[in-house]
Amino acid sequence: MLASADERHACGHCEPCLRRRSGQGEAILPDMATASRAVRSVPPGGCQGRTNIESNTTAGGGPPGEGEMETVQEIVVLGGGRQAVRHLACYGKLREELGIGIAAVVDPAEDRRANCRAVLAAAGFDADSSRLVADLEHLDGTLDLDSTVVDVVVPTRLHYSLAAAASQMGARHLIVEKPLAHSLEEAFRFLDLSGTVHVLENYLFSAVTATMLECLESLGSRPFFMRTEFSKDRRPDSSKGRGTSPGYVPHVFTVEMPHQVAVANRMLGSVGHVVDAWDEDMVLPDGTLAGHGEGAIVLMHEGGVTSCHFSSLNGFRHRGATHRTATVYCTDGARVRGRFASTPDLRAGVEVFRNDRRIASHDLTDDSLTRALGGSLEAFRRRQPGPNDVHFGIEVLRIIDRGFQLAAEAR
Ligand SMILES: NC(=O)c1ccc[n+]([C@@H]2O[C@H](COP(=O)([O-])OP(=O)(O)OC[C@H]3O[C@@H](n4cnc5c(N)ncnc54)[C@H](O)[C@@H]3O)[C@@H](O)[C@H]2O)c1
Repeated sequence: MLASADERHACGHCEPCLRRRSGQGEAILPDMATASRAVRSVPPGGCQGRTNIESNTTAGGGPPGEGEMETVQEIVVLGGGRQAVRHLACYGKLREELGIGIAAVVDPAEDRRANCRAVLAAAGFDADSSRLVADLEHLDGTLDLDSTVVDVVVPTRLHYSLAAAASQMGARHLIVEKPLAHSLEEAFRFLDLSGTVHVLENYLFSAVTATMLECLESLGSRPFFMRTEFSKDRRPDSSKGRGTSPGYVPHVFTVEMPHQVAVANRMLGSVGHVVDAWDEDMVLPDGTLAGHGEGAIVLMHEGGVTSCHFSSLNGFRHRGATHRTATVYCTDGARVRGRFASTPDLRAGVEVFRNDRRIASHDLTDDSLTRALGGSLEAFRRRQPGPNDVHFGIEVLRIIDRGFQLAAEAR
């Protein structure tokens, strides 16, 4: 069996903890409910993961009374880069179901704003009704901030300053891309912001994560080791400055590692502590990006369970294609392996082995980003806590921060 609810509850972010915090007996993780149903309806040999958030509206012990619902209709996206474009496409998928519009996109780069206008139109929004501006200040006094969600999708170094600026303008609902901040110290400062902040940790909302959990629970197996690898060839993007801001290059531990840590903590039911870490630079023809190439963090979780997380952004060193997998090894010879979506078709899968013989296989469609954004919008509307609040963001940063220290010592 996985750790019991009692064994798990120290994290404060797992499902039992959230249930206690919300005072609800039902699961409040909408994605988990969705994925669980998807798995139960699996025909032998394969299943279709659900990609929309329809079941979010039924999670959480029934809808609150009308007076308790928030009106959340407008989105302001801060940043118009690679990830912001993905967010806009996801909002397009949620547009009709949730009745949302994009009030504004903010990016100082004119070409990014022009690109976002095209993306908005392609996503089905009336692009002419959205404001595309260079600075958040241009929106001051123009928005109904009670019904607006501000989605912060800028380089990590700028997360706090822009979230704080939006909060000071009166924003009450904020989504901040992972990792919450570039340092643990700055992550703590989010606690003082007025308004509700959700960290955009899409792998918590992944159908693969949910299906792996369901498989482990139905096997009744106890994990003793977990391994994740989230690798990709980021060299072309990194050489063009993706995710950078003046004086800041994201460390490898802030790119894919937040996802890996979040999945491990969710899957193993407890926040781990770092026992080892190493990193390497990314060497490009025109220079070296310190700590940006590849690295690993090893965690020890409750009950002596170990998890090891490797990430390479170098591509050529390992695999060319984007590769995101998690494998949980159990004491009874069972092994559950998840392959997260890495291609535009969002195909993903989970396989179950016992003593090296494959005993089950689930094909999934894993649109975790849409589900994560939709889950936050629903949680804001229902005034429910999410699994991805500031405390969750701080726990992840605590691990990454310790990883920085141990990796520096190991050099
Ligand atoms: N959840 C995920 O899977 C995932 C994937 C990729 C990136 N991310 C996160 O998304 C964030 C953005 O990454 P990206 O890859 O889009 O980077 P990017 O470099 O492609 O885009 C960042 C954009 O922010 C803009 N910007 C800079 N200063 C700004 C300001 N003051 N106001 C508004 N916009 C400003 C830049 O002009 C740029 O267009 C990072 O925090 C990253 O960690 C998350």
